[in-house]
Parts: sequence; structure tokens; C-alpha cells
Amino acid sequence: MKKFTNVSDIGPLDIAVREALEIKSDKFGFTQLGRNKTLLMIFFNSSLRTRLSTQKAAMNLGMNVMVLDVNQGAWKLETERGVVMDGDKAEHLLEAIPVMGSYCDMIGVRSFAGLKDKAEDYEERVINQFIEYSGRPVFSMEAATRHPLQSFADLITIEEFKTKKRPKVVMTWAPHPRPLPQAVPNSFAEWMNATDYEFVITHPHGYELAPEFVGNAYVEYDQCKALEGADFVYAKNWSAYAGDNYGKVLSTDRAWTVDSEKMGLTDNAFFMHCLPVRRNMIVTDEVIDSDRSIVIPEAANREISAQVVIKRLLESL
Ligand code: CP
Repeated sequence: MKKFTNVSDIGPLDIAVREALEIKSDKFGFTQLGRNKTLLMIFFNSSLRTRLSTQKAAMNLGMNVMVLDVNQGAWKLETERGVVMDGDKAEHLLEAIPVMGSYCDMIGVRSFAGLKDKAEDYEERVINQFIEYSGRPVFSMEAATRHPLQSFADLITIEEFKTKKRPKVVMTWAPHPRPLPQAVPNSFAEWMNATDYEFVITHPHGYELAPEFVGNAYVEYDQCKALEGADFVYAKNWSAYAGDNYGKVLSTDRAWTVDSEKMGLTDNAFFMHCLPVRRNMIVTDEVIDSDRSIVIPEAANREISAQVVIKRLLESL
């Protein structure tokens, strides 16, 4: 594996999950693989889970790790081509990327969608420039349109908790006061569509995701109907994708908040969320604090998904 930005990079999912569970049972079985190798983690945006889990995964593999927060202490980076750099951005990505590549063996990049220009976001301009110009294997730590390390951890978690061969997984939009990118729901949909699970997406009108991510998922606009018989409820907010509403908040309707009544419609479903989560907006305290909430094991599996990905990239060096 030379890069990891989407589900197709990881190959067959059954093999990837098996590898993940093997690594989980012996996290330090490959400490020689990363010896004298350096991972550079670059953050254009904030993080708790991705930062800690990815760093821990690399350390489990014996790697050295450097973390750069671009917006705290580094030169402000220009990402546009052909601009006159007379503003506050002192360095262009075109120089910064190969320089960063010269100090490390592998690069993880977090760069969210700006939510101003759909075409620019969906071109994945920033991470693609790292892939093109760094000369190093690159993996996504959440890019503009996908969050594959999260989706892989979600898949591992479902495989660990499922009690049916083909569970019903429902991804539901839930309210949030601020506009959030579509990366997590896009990516979750992409990964769920690559399984044989029954996969349903529910959201208010206007929150349709890009068709290439919706794929063969069943879209049900009635949240209660969608949740009937669910085995897993995956809650997430996202801003509008479609048309001129790109990046906008169209609704903060708390009738979409996941509460005990909604969970009562399911087949005693597990509750999932990638975190961070806004309590009593996305999900009630009662649901997230219940014994059916698996958000903590889900977050813990971020270390495992990252370790599989970094291990495979190390093996390709
Ligand atoms: N789920 C997730 O990516 O969390 P962070 O934004 O804290 O890294």
C-alpha cells in the first residue's frame, strides 16, 4: 500500500479486519518494522483522537513521530497555485511539502473541507499535493471528503459487536449548531457500501450526500422508519452538500436528536458516533451514557485502524 485515502486503498475488508484483530491482540508484535523510521503528522485542523491514536499506533510499531500543527508556530501555508503571495501566507505548499518529505519516511495529513468552494473541496487539493510532491507514502487523517481511519475503526467496531451476520446499520443525520464537513458521513457510507450489511441513511430533505458516496444505500427521510429494527445507529451531523446550499446549516431541529424513544424503535441497537459529540444536540445523555453506547471502544479502535494502515505503508517502503 503506497497511500491511504479511501476504502479501495485497503483492499479486501475481511482481510483488513482480520489483520486489525490480530494487531489488537498483540500490538507490539511488529516493533522492529518501524525502527529508525519517522512519521510526520501534519495538522491543518484540531484533533484529539486522531492525533493521539495515530501517534500511539506509530509508536507501537517502533517509529519516531513528529507532529506539526501548521496553524500554531509554522509559517502560514499558501495552498492555491498561481497566486501573488502578498498576504499573510509566507510559504507555499509546493516548497513546504518536499521539505517536510525530506525529514521523514511517511506523512499523515489532516486537512478539512473549507466548505466555501465545493469543487475545490471535492478535488482534495491539499492531500493530493502531498501525495504528488512529498515523495513519501501519505495517509489521510481526515481530508476534505473522507475520514478513512475513522471509517475503518467503525468497521472493526461493528465486526466486534455484531450478533448477526448481516446487521442493519443506520446512519442518521443529527442537529449541530455549526456547519460541519461531509467527510465522516461520506466515508462511513463508502465503507458500509463495501460490506454486505444492510445500510440505510436518514436525514432531513436538503442534506443529501454526494451520489458517489450514497452508492447503493437506502435513503429514508423518515428517521423513525429508518431506525426500525436497526442493529447499529451511527449518528453524525453534516452540512448541506447539494446545490447552492453547499456548506450551509439548513436545520438545527432537535426532533432529529437520537434519544431513548428513537433507540426503542431499533433491535436494541448499539449507538455509535465518531466523537467529539455535542450532548443533547446529536444524542441525549441517556443514550450516550447507556450500556448500548459503544463510542469509547469505537474511539479506542482508532489506534488499531491506524496501526494496520501505518504497518502496511511501512511494509511498502
Ligand atoms: N473522530 C475524530 O477524528 O476525532 P478528532 O477530531 O478528535 O481527531
